Amino acid sequence: MIRLYSLFSVLFLAISAVAQSSINLPHLQKQGSTSQLIVSGKPFLMLGGELGNSSASDMEYMKPIWPKLQQMHVNTVLAPIYWELLEPQEGKFDFTLVDELVKDARQHQIKLVLLWFGSWKNSMSCYVPAWVKTDTKRFPRVQTKAGKAVEILTPFGKNSLDADIKAFSALMRHIRETDERQQTVIMIQVENEIGMLPEARDHSALANTAFDQPVPKSLIQHLQTNKAALAPAVRSAWQTNGAKTSGNWEAVFGKSLSTDEIFIAWHLAQYANRVTEAGKGIYPIPMFVNAALNRPNVKPGDYPSGGPLPHIIDIWKVGAPTLDFLSPDFYNPDFNYWNDLYSRPDNPLFIPEIRFEPANAARVFYAIGHYDAMGFSPFSIESTDKPAEGPIAKSYHVLTQLSPTILAHQGKGVMNGMLFDKKMAIDTVHLGGYTFICKHDYTLGWSPKAKEDEWPTTGGLIIQTGPNDFTIAGSGIVITCLSDQPQTPNAGILQLDEGHYVDGKWKPGRRLNGDQDHQGRHIRIPVGDYGIQKLTLYRF
Ligand code: DGJ
Repeated sequence: MIRLYSLFSVLFLAISAVAQSSINLPHLQKQGSTSQLIVSGKPFLMLGGELGNSSASDMEYMKPIWPKLQQMHVNTVLAPIYWELLEPQEGKFDFTLVDELVKDARQHQIKLVLLWFGSWKNSMSCYVPAWVKTDTKRFPRVQTKAGKAVEILTPFGKNSLDADIKAFSALMRHIRETDERQQTVIMIQVENEIGMLPEARDHSALANTAFDQPVPKSLIQHLQTNKAALAPAVRSAWQTNGAKTSGNWEAVFGKSLSTDEIFIAWHLAQYANRVTEAGKGIYPIPMFVNAALNRPNVKPGDYPSGGPLPHIIDIWKVGAPTLDFLSPDFYNPDFNYWNDLYSRPDNPLFIPEIRFEPANAARVFYAIGHYDAMGFSPFSIESTDKPAEGPIAKSYHVLTQLSPTILAHQGKGVMNGMLFDKKMAIDTVHLGGYTFICKHDYTLGWSPKAKEDEWPTTGGLIIQTGPNDFTIAGSGIVITCLSDQPQTPNAGILQLDEGHYVDGKWKPGRRLNGDQDHQGRHIRIPVGDYGIQKLTLYRF
């Protein structure tokens, strides 16, 4: 009997080991020209929101927030994990907050992207535990050129890196042990808005020693093999200085603030890479970093120098190869400009932070439709008093219904987006042999508000689902169509229905004709409406 029992337990252990290893962890997967986040074996579109910095430090405070998030149709919350609360005493980890966060997220059917507020948060080291903060010998600080210490851990502090790795590893081990099956935690952001302040580089003794070391071979090799495609600041510093293939940082890149930034970027990237590598060694789910964007004519150091920014992207790609992607945080204008720079074959777009404002309800359509974004996430998402009625809730409601269609068509060249305001009120989309002239709804001049100086930002997306079939969604858009075939240059509306999805099934609503499609002349979703329309065209 005992033998039989132990045979069964051996068998059971063997089976569960196999089951364990076959668990399909969240990961990125290529589809056409883009990458998708796969969760529990299926592509997942993150309709996200990032919590204000302190909200997730108190689960009582979070209680009324969860239902709000549900009313906003948020399916993913970006929530900080604070090193100081995770490891208040060295080596003694407290996972209470993490466990409660995961439990409450599950209860509300919401996924989590955890933000590791470790060594750096907005450049500063405010979230390191007291035992790190107070021991500046063991955990040395950045220094300015004038020798002033800053409340930032230097990336050259070996003990700091080891301590960060230990804490992050403990976190990832705990997530693996408690969440591998349910996969509530789907991605990790490593640190937060890494970058150097208030100068372009650290001037501590440790940093100065590193500055005199040769530029690493892997970076030099990258410069040589990617000469033509290097990011602007890297190319210009390297080539202006004679494209040297050896020497210390100033020998290779010249003496300038740009060199200081390249140097510190490399070491920040390496630090983040080591932390990421350790975490992935334990629980390999997608990991990324986010960037505080720079502004034109601002010196590095006045903005967080050396962060994961497009003008030095090579440094991050070579210095931190374990990261899955780099992401922009939007508190700047020029949404399209930055998204163009961050969307690359080696860098799928994810927007972890964007200032919470009504225009996001349009931007999210454009990010997903035009850039195949994996997700979108306004910052301080809980700060609204009207969760259900807010514009982002309305867009997320539409996008929740459309997610399966969007995910099926991403990366295949059959989807595009549009984004309008008064200055940029028209765009052209080519799909399936048709040209769509897309405009801001107010270009019709039908609304009295069209006369105002400012127009609300509006936007939408179009997906080609069949040779003559298109799904159009968004708000504040009007579209006319042409055929690209010279013999039949006109495109007419054969059928236009509004509707919505119930449990993944399309339920048509009104047949839109007459005044609603301007007697067959256009497709329109007025400002203030958020909808889905299915269109069939014909040529004549
Ligand atoms: C960007 C940071 O990443 C967030 O944590 C927060 O500090 C916001 N800025 C505040 O605007």
